[in-house]
Formats: sequence, C-alpha cells, structure tokens
Amino acid sequence: NNGAAEFLPDRFDLDTLRRAAAGCEGCDLFRNATQAVFGEGPRRARFMLVGEQPGDREDREGRPFVGPAGRILDRGLEEAGIARDDVYLTNAVKHFSFVPRGKRRIHQKPTAAEIDACRPWLEAELSVVRPGVVVVLGATAARSLLGREFKVTRQRGEPVPLGDALAVATVHPSAVLRAPDRDEAYAGFLADLRAAAAV
Ligand code: URA
Ligand code: SF4
Repeated sequence: NNGAAEFLPDRFDLDTLRRAAAGCEGCDLFRNATQAVFGEGPRRARFMLVGEQPGDREDREGRPFVGPAGRILDRGLEEAGIARDDVYLTNAVKHFSFVPRGKRRIHQKPTAAEIDACRPWLEAELSVVRPGVVVVLGATAARSLLGREFKVTRQRGEPVPLGDALAVATVHPSAVLRAPDRDEAYAGFLADLRAAAAV
C-alpha cells in the first residue's frame, strides 16, 4: 500500500472526499475495519477538531466521536462555549485499528506509517474547510499535523502556527476517561479548549 494519495479525486469537496475515502486501500487498516469514518461538520467551520482514529462505536456507526470519548468532547465544547455549528470533527486516521480479543475489539494505536498513509485525507479536509483554529486531540493527531518533535505534554494549550491556521493541542478525551484523577484531567482538557476558543 502506498498511502491514501492515489485515492484522492483530482478535484473535490467534502462529499466527494467522503465517497472516495470509503474506497481507500492506502494502508492495511481498511481490511478489518467495518468502514472508513470520515470527518463531519460544516464546510468553512471555524474550528477543526482532530482525534486519533475511530473507536469501536464509531467503526460500527460510521461517524466520528459518537462513543464515550465523544461525550467528554461534547461536554468540553459546550463548557468552552464552542458552538457545534462552528465545528468540523475528524480523525488523523480514518479506519479503526484493533486487535480481537475474544468477542471484544481492543483499540490499537495507529503506527507512524498508518498516520502518514492517511494524512492526505486530513490535508484535503483542511484545504476545504480552512479552519481558523485546529484543535489537536492527543499525540496521534499531533504527530500527523505538528511533527514528531511536538510534545503535547509540554506544548498543550498554546497556539502554534499550522499553515494559515493556529493549532492548539490538548490531551485526547479518552485519556481524560482513563486518568487516575478524572476531574483534574478534565479541568486541564477544558482549559485547553478555552484557550482554543479564545484564539
Ligand atoms: N476517539 C477518536 O480519536 N476519534 C473518534 O472518532 C472516537 C474516539
Ligand atoms: Fe486509507 Fe486511512 Fe483507511 Fe489506511 S486508514 S486505508 S490510509 S483511509
């Protein structure tokens, strides 16, 4: 597999991109996943939020952030005063990566090669939506958009240039759910979303 680039239409909008991504075989993740989960939201949204990859629920439903991580994200957006109409939601990697364990499917972090393979879809989404602010949710999205030198733990909450936009990184909402002190983790997450809202 040579990455997603060869599956991109020459000219595109969000609908044609979504249809093309449904047939992507740019890396091996399409083999076991149910479907590609493309981004969602208005063209020309002010905010683009970029997660890691679909989870189990997202893989089945075909929509980003409809599971437990999405509930934390929804709450954070609301409390940060970011309106849904202003948000385009997507992921760095469009197919669910997992290992089967009995009847369960255990989420696996996408590899650097998979993140690279899938980046053309994310870049295409950026070129159509042209957000003012990109909210980078966790290390995988940071790796895709900001490079491997970027460290979320050190640079979270501070706007950094990303093309014509400003990017604000924070932890992944799933990390908030897993944190030993959930309230503290959520407070940090919310502070970063507020920083993004104030850009
Ligand atoms: N986690 C993500 O990164 N993206 C989703 O869409 C769901 C969970
Ligand atoms: Fe294509 Fe991305 Fe799916 Fe890999 S994860 S097959 S690059 S859409």
